[in-house]
Amino acid sequence: MAKKIDIQSKIQDKVILSGTSNRGLAKKIAKELGLSLGKMEVKQFSDGETYINIEESLADKTVYVIQSGSNPANHNLVEMLAIVQAARSLQPKRVVAVVPFYPYRRMEKVMKPGESLTFELVADLLHAAKIDKIICMDLHKHRSKRFFKFQRKELRAFPIIIERMRQKKLHNFVMVAPDKGSMPESKRYARELNVPLVKAFKTRKKHDEAIIKRIVGDVAGKDVIIVDDEINTAGTLTGVVDKLKEMKVRNIYFACTHAVLSGPAIERLQKAKIREVIITDTIDLPMEKRIPKIKILTTASLFAEAIKEDR
Ligand code: R5P
Repeated sequence: MAKKIDIQSKIQDKVILSGTSNRGLAKKIAKELGLSLGKMEVKQFSDGETYINIEESLADKTVYVIQSGSNPANHNLVEMLAIVQAARSLQPKRVVAVVPFYPYRRMEKVMKPGESLTFELVADLLHAAKIDKIICMDLHKHRSKRFFKFQRKELRAFPIIIERMRQKKLHNFVMVAPDKGSMPESKRYARELNVPLVKAFKTRKKHDEAIIKRIVGDVAGKDVIIVDDEINTAGTLTGVVDKLKEMKVRNIYFACTHAVLSGPAIERLQKAKIREVIITDTIDLPMEKRIPKIKILTTASLFAEAIKEDR
């Protein structure tokens, strides 16, 4: 009983503020914690600039600012920075940025001199705004955390996706890694599900265009699961699906954490021979993009647990 009261009083020391990019997820996280979202006015002036006014007492509290860096990334980023800054002015104990989808997450290395290293820039901006910690999920490369000059916790969507796959009770199936970068995570899934792993070889001649050169492994007559960290234009996925179909596989399932789904993605998914596309709610998917083959899993309990445990 004493422990329960202790946990409850610690929860009461926490305040959840949400930006506008993913309020659905923020509400679910707050609900899991037995809290409501803190009161705050968020608006844009007629010229598009952001205005924030926090209407909560934050003194000596730990404040969690939930904001996904999804499209429009620049706007959502500035909104998050402005909320952090406004929160700081109210003398909280700590400010934690909860960033389900980290903006510019793929820009964590420079391919040629003169390119922007935008992942680092975002990390530096969060540092300048004086966050104490970031809680994020499935970065593109786990080593990109080295850019964070504050405490960090990177969550994985792995447990909820694996649970969904187990429910399917698939037999005679293989895991396909769509490119080199997805190999470590695909290996982890294959190990957990005790299935063989097959590799696809991808190349890009220009941004946002994926060419699947070949797939190496025994897939004919099998069910296939493809796992990636994100789906953007769906070029990678549909390229792999087309090759797999040429190789006479049976049903194809796909799972990823971040459903960016930009440009031609939905049209490509509609046409692609895929049974199910499993995504999470790190990005708020607009209703018009919620086609029947997409199944959305919520990450709320993972974030709520991380907030509960945060000291
Ligand atoms: C790339 O390295 C990522 O892991 C994904 O494979 C990529 O972002 C998917 O992009 P698209 O859907 O545009 O092919």
